[in-house]
Amino acid sequence: MAGPVVDRARETELIEAALAGGANVVLEGPPGTGKSTLLRRVAGDLATAFVLVEGNAELTPARVVGQFDPAQVLARGYDPEIFVDGPLLTAMREGGLFYVEELNRVPEETLNTLLAVMSEREIAVPRLGVVRAAEGFAVVAAMNPFDAVGTARVSGAIYDRVCRIAMDYQSAEAEQQIVTGRAPVPSAQWGRQAVELVRATREHPDLRFGSSVRGAIDFASITHHLAKARQVPADDWFVGLDAARVALSGRVRVEESAQRSAEQIIEQLYTDIFGPPPSDESEESASESAEGSGSGEI
Ligand SMILES: Nc1ncnc2c1ncn2[C@@H]1O[C@H](COP(=O)(O)OP(=O)(O)O)[C@@H](O)[C@H]1O
Ligand SMILES: [Mg+2]
Repeated sequence: MAGPVVDRARETELIEAALAGGANVVLEGPPGTGKSTLLRRVAGDLATAFVLVEGNAELTPARVVGQFDPAQVLARGYDPEIFVDGPLLTAMREGGLFYVEELNRVPEETLNTLLAVMSEREIAVPRLGVVRAAEGFAVVAAMNPFDAVGTARVSGAIYDRVCRIAMDYQSAEAEQQIVTGRAPVPSAQWGRQAVELVRATREHPDLRFGSSVRGAIDFASITHHLAKARQVPADDWFVGLDAARVALSGRVRVEESAQRSAEQIIEQLYTDIFGPPPSDESEESASESAEGSGSGEI
């Protein structure tokens, strides 16, 4: 799924410079800002191994470091031959990038294991011995600074061992390019409006946070498939509205004080940006010849 990376030349340069100097890197930014995409590209550019782990409560030190194959320990004892490398040791031995997504969700004891590796470039594994990282090894991590889960846990000790690169939302032009590269878009104009709508969710006073470009990609893709299923043109107004609701209503968070649901807010934004439903217009023109229709003209 690694399509071309749109923009981000500056961030790419910064990451590569930090890694070239032997630093560890953390990318901080909201979901969907291209952190994983960018780090994959950098690993590709450097032709280096890229070992990814997802930060969550189950990521124990044994999971990242590895362990002696429990089935064989009885018969063979703690023979180094039966040690199964975890992702961290794999990256260290290969001189690759050890990439941790959602760093702030990693349990404390695992963070402590990483801390030692980040500063010493080696790890002492009980009964196995010391494993030194090959040239090129680095810990790279990504986190969402607004993540409600466990954000406070990333300690100053970790921050002291990483270079931090902030990833903000892409520009509107970049988002259009990303969407066009990932999903069939009815027209360039439609693509611009779809991105405008998604960006508007990030600024809306009733929304605590809005959708990332992932929402725009799904919006376009659902529109395409729904229009096909309904056998209507790809830019059908009603198809777009349904697609916008489906793609975006779960991705935004409504402020507690707001009087409206996520779907209502998205419908309003959709009408603001894509215009009123076409039936309104035909009713209007129909009502010109009839006497006073319900909604009338304003
Ligand atoms: N600069 C970019 N170039 C190409 N695709 C991008 C870019 N930024 C984001 N995307 C696309 O948007 C989606 C989310 O990007 P991702 O890298 O997973 O974000 P993050 O890791 O920050 O949550 C993916 O489908 C990715 O392909
Ligand atoms: Mg990611």
